[in-house]
Amino acid sequence: MLQRIVKPLMIAVLLLFAQLTYATEGMWLPQLLSGLNEKEMKGMGMKITASDIYNINKGSLKDAIVSFGGFCTAEVISSQGLILTNHHCGYESIQKHSSLQNNFLEKGFWAKTATEELPNPGLFVTFIVRIDDVTKAALQDVKPGMSERERQSAIDKRLHEIRQNARRESWQETMIKPFYEGNQYFLFVTETFNDVRLVGTPPSAIGKFGSDTDNWVWPRHTGDFSMFRIYAGKDGRPAPYSLDNVPLSPKYFLPVSLKGVKQNDFTMVLGFPGRTNEYLPSEAVKLTVEALGPAKVGMRDAALEVLDGYMRKDEQIKIQYAAKYANTANAWKKWKGEMLGVKQTHGIDKKEQYEATYRELLNTANPELKVQYSGVLDSLNEMYRRIRPYAQTRDYYSELVRNVELFTAGDRLISFLGEVRDKGEGQYETLRQQFLESMQPFYKNYNAQVDHDVSVRLLEIYAKGVPKQYAGAEYAQICAESNNDSRTLADKVYAASALTSPEKLKAFVQQPYNAVVAQMWKDPGTRLIMAMRKGFVDNVSKPVNDLQNNINNLQRTYMQAQMDVMAGKKRFYPDANSTLRVTYGKVDGYNPRDAVHYDFYTYLDGVMEKYVPGDYEFDVPAKLIELYKNKDYGRYGVNGKMPVCFIASNHTTGGNSGSPALDANGHLIGLNFDRTWEGTMSDINYDPSICRNIMVDIRYVLFIVDKYAGCTRLVDEMKLVK
Ligand code: ARG
Ligand code: GLU
Repeated sequence: MLQRIVKPLMIAVLLLFAQLTYATEGMWLPQLLSGLNEKEMKGMGMKITASDIYNINKGSLKDAIVSFGGFCTAEVISSQGLILTNHHCGYESIQKHSSLQNNFLEKGFWAKTATEELPNPGLFVTFIVRIDDVTKAALQDVKPGMSERERQSAIDKRLHEIRQNARRESWQETMIKPFYEGNQYFLFVTETFNDVRLVGTPPSAIGKFGSDTDNWVWPRHTGDFSMFRIYAGKDGRPAPYSLDNVPLSPKYFLPVSLKGVKQNDFTMVLGFPGRTNEYLPSEAVKLTVEALGPAKVGMRDAALEVLDGYMRKDEQIKIQYAAKYANTANAWKKWKGEMLGVKQTHGIDKKEQYEATYRELLNTANPELKVQYSGVLDSLNEMYRRIRPYAQTRDYYSELVRNVELFTAGDRLISFLGEVRDKGEGQYETLRQQFLESMQPFYKNYNAQVDHDVSVRLLEIYAKGVPKQYAGAEYAQICAESNNDSRTLADKVYAASALTSPEKLKAFVQQPYNAVVAQMWKDPGTRLIMAMRKGFVDNVSKPVNDLQNNINNLQRTYMQAQMDVMAGKKRFYPDANSTLRVTYGKVDGYNPRDAVHYDFYTYLDGVMEKYVPGDYEFDVPAKLIELYKNKDYGRYGVNGKMPVCFIASNHTTGGNSGSPALDANGHLIGLNFDRTWEGTMSDINYDPSICRNIMVDIRYVLFIVDKYAGCTRLVDEMKLVK
C-alpha cells in the first residue's frame, strides 16, 4: 500500500524538480514555441508572442537571423541589410583583407561610405524562410528490423522526393535535417546571399581583448563584434557579387535597445547552435568525462605546453603558431570545463536518477510501450561500456595525428600518391607540382624542432594510453627498434624524414612514382605514420564503426522511448544540429565555487584593471583609454560607467556565436559570443545553477562604433529604442 503511493509520488517529485530547475534549459524549435514554450516565456517576462518570433505570413524575428557562413550566427540590424556578428566569426574575412601596411586585425577597419565596404568571396549568409514537419513522408518506407543502412537509404529516397516537391520560389533552396536522433524530420526553405561585405571591425585589442587567457572566462571584457552588410540584386533577390548590387532590404530587422538589463530580466537568444548531446545515457556521460575527455585533454596539455614554451621565447614561432595554438586551446579549455562541471554538479548521479525515473515510468506504462522499449536503455549503456577502449584509442590517435604536424604532412603525401594511383602515372608530374605547391603554406608555419618536441610528448602518452593489441604489430616493431623510448624514436624520425622540410620533401617526390611508393615504408617518418595508421584501421575503426551504428540505432529508440514514456510530464527539445533555435533565460550571476560569487555585469573599469601595456592579450588602444579617462561615453554609459559584457542562463553552444540577445520586447540588447568555463558541460548536461552564456552589451558595441571609431553613419541606420 505504502509502496503504491510512495512510488508515483517519488516520480512526481523528481519530475517536478526537473521542471523547476530546468526552466531555462532547451534549444527550442521556433515554429513550435506557441504550443510548448510561449506560456512559460510569458511567465518569465516576455512581452511579445510566439508569432512575433516565428511567422510565415509576416516579418518576424526569425527573418532578422542568419546563419553566417555556416559556422556562426548574425542578425540584421538596419533596413539596409547591416548585420552584426562576432569579431571571432568575421576573423578570417578581416584577416584576408589585412596586409602589413593595412593590418585591420591590429588597427580595426571602418568603411566610411558604402563604396568602401569590402567583398568577401566565399562568405555567405542564409535566411530561414519556412520550416515544415516532413516526418511522416520521410519515414513512410521504414520497416521494423531494417538495418541502419537499409533504413537510411529508404529515408534518403523519400527525402529526395520531398525536396523535389517542396513549394519554394526559384531563388530559394531546401534542406531536410533529422531531429530527435532521427525520429523526426524537418524541411527548411532557405534563402542564401553570397554578396556579404565587411563594414567594420574594432582592433583585436578590443574585439579579441583577453585572447586565449580570457577565452571561456567570466568576468569578461571583450568587445567581440564585427559588422557586415548583405547585398542583393536590384530585385532584392540573391545575386552573385556585383558592383550593381544594392543593400538588402530585409523582411525584418532588430530594433536596438539602449535600456540595458537588470537582474532576472527575461532574455532570449536566437541562432544556429551546432551540436549537443543532451539525451545520452549515464554510461556515455561517464565515457565522455572519465575516458575521452582526459585522453584528449592530456594530449593537448602536453602539446600546448611545448608550443607555449617556444612561443614565449621566439617571436617568429609565435607568429607561426598563434592561430594553431588558439584553435587547439579553444576546445581543450572547453573540455576541461566540461569535465569539471559534470563533477561539480553531480551530473552522472543526476543521469542515473533520471534513468531510475524512466525505468519506473516504463514499468507502469501500457504493455505495448513496455514491450517495445524493454531493455533498450540497458543495451545502450552496455554498448557504451563496450565502445570505451576503442573510442578512447580513436581519440588518442586523432589527437596525435592532429597535434603532431608531421602526420598532417604525411597524410597529405599519402593522399597525393593515392591520387596518382587512381588517375594514372601519366598525371604524376602535374599532380606532383600541385602537391608541392599546396604544401607551401603548411611549411610557412612549420617548425620541425617544435614539432619534434611535441611528438616526443605525444608519442609517449600514446604508448602508455593505447593497449598493445590496438596499436598494431608494425608500430610495436618500430617502438622496439627505439627501445620503446619516444625521444629516441622522435630523434630518429626528425633527423632523417623527408617530411621535415619543403626541400627534403621535394627531393623525395622528385624520384619516379614507384621509387617513392617503395620508400614510404623506409623513410622513418612516413613509416611511422603508415604503421600507426595501419594499426588504427586494422584494429580500431571497424569495431568503433560497428558499435557506433548499434549505438545510433539504440539512441534513436531510447530518444523515442523517453518521449513516449514521459509524454505530458516532460518537454523535449531536439539536440542542436546547426538549425535555427530559440533559447531563453534570465540575467543572473552565479557561484562557481565555495564562497565565490560572480556578478552578471562587467564595465570598462574592468578592461582598465586588466590592461597590460604592450601585451599581446591585454593591451588597450590609446583612444579607448582617453575615452575612459574623460568618461566620454555619450548616450551609451550609465551612471558614469560603460557596461561591457553580461551573462544570463540562456542555453547556448558553439555556433551560437554572433547570436542576438533580445529583451522581453524582442529588442537587441547584446551579442552572444561565449559561455562560462564552469558551465560548458551544458552540451551534455545543462545545469541552471552554473550554466551561463556571455554577451557583449549592445551599448558597448554602439559606443565603440560611434565614439571610438566615429562611424556614426552606422548607428544612424539603426532603429534605437531609448
Ligand atoms: N570560446 C569561444 C568559442 O567557442 C570563442 C573562441 C574564439 N576566441 C578565442 N580567444 N580563441 O568559439
Ligand atoms: N564561441 C562559441 C562559438 O563560436 C560560442 C560559445 C559556446 O560554445 O557557447 O560559437
